[in-house]
Amino acid sequence: MKVLVATEKPFAKVAIDGIKAEIDKAGYDLALLEKYTDKKQLLEAVADADAVIIRSDIIDEEVFNAAKNLKIVVRAGAGYDNVDLNAATKAGVCVMNTPGQNANAVAELALGLMVYGVRNLYNGTSGTELMGKKLGIHAYGNVGRNVARIAKGFGMEIFAYDAYCPKEVIEKDGVTALNSVEELYSTCQFVSLHIPATAETKNSINYALLNKMPKNAFLLNTARKEVINEEELIKLMEERTDFKYLTDIMPVNNDKFAEKFAGRYFATPKKMGAQTAEANINAGIAAAKQIVDFIKNGVQKFRVNK
Ligand code: 3PG
Repeated sequence: MKVLVATEKPFAKVAIDGIKAEIDKAGYDLALLEKYTDKKQLLEAVADADAVIIRSDIIDEEVFNAAKNLKIVVRAGAGYDNVDLNAATKAGVCVMNTPGQNANAVAELALGLMVYGVRNLYNGTSGTELMGKKLGIHAYGNVGRNVARIAKGFGMEIFAYDAYCPKEVIEKDGVTALNSVEELYSTCQFVSLHIPATAETKNSINYALLNKMPKNAFLLNTARKEVINEEELIKLMEERTDFKYLTDIMPVNNDKFAEKFAGRYFATPKKMGAQTAEANINAGIAAAKQIVDFIKNGVQKFRVNK
């Protein structure tokens, strides 16, 4: 049984050691394709793989067609918008994610971006503080919850909106659950995005919504670039010089943002929310265990395709 780790953005070495230990224990073989630069390398590596562990790697129909023995793909992480689920189902392949395993790392980075933002990108000038400020958490999943937990320590006033999470679940954390996305944006000076990229959410963070935010607004994105309507965000930031955007996912129009909005725009060079040893260990080992449990016992917990 061959388990392939195919990661364009590799795991920390300690996580690979942990994955290897799980795969060895099961009596399977581990193969590594890390930092690949060409899809051809991936197509070759999956040819004889029974299982694959990925991160944000694109797994499309071509990959499924090239992987004749493939039974399971586990996305070591939360978002699986990079996997063509229909193609997986057509190919008879089970797709899973590892929800929650890297959530704390992403949440810590969201707060890190907030501090960086209010301290004027660490340029030495006088900034502001987070204490007492209103934070809106857009989607209250595993990352959103961790953001709320950490933001409490900063003394922020916390609000959330989630179309799919019951209000009681949000409120039992001491977070105010709002009734609509519009209400969240008009209430909060800081909004942190934690929505997945789906047909419904793509381009949904637009001019009309963002323009509801109070003065000196901060938009923090540790979710996906696709949820932002970039042209409309650019228009808004041109009109509102008080608006700041800090993101862990470089926009398609990064050069334009950087040139036009120096001092109130920041993007990490490579998505790094889940780039910690701990998150890599948690998500990587969970993925390996889920593969072994699926192959040995048929356990399909965390399956995301039909
Ligand atoms: C996720 O969906 O789990 C995060 O966006 C992390 O993605 P990454 O594994 O590509 O860093």
